[in-house]
Amino acid sequence: MLKATMHIDPSFQVAPVDDRVYSSFIEHLGRAVYDGIYCPDHSTADALGFRQDVKDLIRPLHIPLIRYPGGNFVSGYRWEDGVGPRESRPVRLDRAWRTLETNQVGPNEFAVWCKDIGAQMMMAVNLGTRGIDDACNLVEYCNHPSGSLYSNLRISHGVKEPYGIKVWCLGNEMDGPWQVGHKTADEYGRLALETARAMRKIDDKIQLVASGSSFPEMPTFPDWEATVLGHVYEDVDFLSIHQYLGDTTHDLKDFLAKSLTTEYFIRSVLATCDYVKAQKRSKKDMMLSFDEWNLWYHSVGGDEAYMKKTPWQYAPSLVEDIYTMADAAVFGTMLITILKHADRVKIACLAQLVNVIAPIMTVPGGGEAWLQTIYYPFLHATQYGHGTVLYTPAKSPKYDSKNFTDVPYLESVAVYNEEAGEVTVFAVNRSTEESLELEVQLNAFSSCELIEHIAMSHEDHTIVNGPSAARVQPRKVSGAQVQDKTLTAQLSPISWNVLRLKVK
Ligand code: AHR
Repeated sequence: MLKATMHIDPSFQVAPVDDRVYSSFIEHLGRAVYDGIYCPDHSTADALGFRQDVKDLIRPLHIPLIRYPGGNFVSGYRWEDGVGPRESRPVRLDRAWRTLETNQVGPNEFAVWCKDIGAQMMMAVNLGTRGIDDACNLVEYCNHPSGSLYSNLRISHGVKEPYGIKVWCLGNEMDGPWQVGHKTADEYGRLALETARAMRKIDDKIQLVASGSSFPEMPTFPDWEATVLGHVYEDVDFLSIHQYLGDTTHDLKDFLAKSLTTEYFIRSVLATCDYVKAQKRSKKDMMLSFDEWNLWYHSVGGDEAYMKKTPWQYAPSLVEDIYTMADAAVFGTMLITILKHADRVKIACLAQLVNVIAPIMTVPGGGEAWLQTIYYPFLHATQYGHGTVLYTPAKSPKYDSKNFTDVPYLESVAVYNEEAGEVTVFAVNRSTEESLELEVQLNAFSSCELIEHIAMSHEDHTIVNGPSAARVQPRKVSGAQVQDKTLTAQLSPISWNVLRLKVK
């Protein structure tokens, strides 16, 4: 059996967890909005047409921010199309996904939906086909109290109080040639700077996210970051990063190691931020908004061919990956990696939330809603991952795979919730064959007891859930124990684990 050790000491702190790392994302894409959260004919639909049963599955996640309305979609979006009387809203051709956009859901309906699930909106502005004026008009519409053209327009649409939307994204993936209105780093940097300054004139309380590279393999990474930050460093609060992992080489051991690329990506982006900080003799540390992260590979390829052949459909099934147990483990390693960078990653959005690369699915045509494997690690993190991330040196046996060397079998992080007197260890065993015995030294605490060990694993790592088929779910497991301030637990092969401790 493999054996790994960890030391947990509450004085070795990385940083408090910013709860906004448990945010998510809903884009006007495929069946995320239409036939996902919005389904006016559904038996559980509310007055605006939103599915209550889907909201009930989202609520336990306590999502603080939901990024909206895109994604690639935002780069051609006209927000004015989505406000005012629904019957007079135009049907548009969405050029990003080549589908029909009816605009039956827009910022005001989405705001009601967010309030209902206890989330705030994280709004993106269109810097693809539009620019400074439209971004400012949207800030005025959403955040200005009254007495001006766009604030009065909002009031005439039945929304008396301003929304006070705090976090705004300056465009989306503007480095990508697939983006409508794709720009060079200099073009984007200049536009983002002037837009940021103008938006802050309307509302000086907003926080702004500049668009970083779409993924680490982009040929323009990290020059994109250096150039863009060269323009906007002092005028934005966050730089965005996006990454989707996948078993693209059909090699399980390699796939299970993929979060090492996330670690590399975060470190490289931070190094670039710090380089610009030094260049500018700045006192400010740039924070990261990891506003798209997940696994995305099952549906890649098929969707593009489908949309080429049959474009301009309403709510087609697009980007609907069905996640396996192994995917849930890789998802867990990504989540752990994000938490380990709690000092600089202050926002992270699981992309996305419903139907599109999502933890929550609905059967097309208003059918049953069901939970994917990846729902559970996210749920656990949002339930127990509050407090302070601790620096926890771990010793783990390692392996080499096709593209990686020295991959630790154990991926783990500890979060200390001082108020509740609890420590939670999130851990993944990457081994495909062997259980891993984890030994955690807790000498720094005067007392500690195990609350529970929750684990998710399956003898078949390809197992998936489906409608009325929750084949793989977390369960409480026995066997873990604390003796002489040492916790021991067995982690099954390819497993996600949550070890909860009561400490003093
Ligand atoms: O989340 C799906 C898409 O992935 C988003 O629209 C885009 O920003 C990214 O490429």
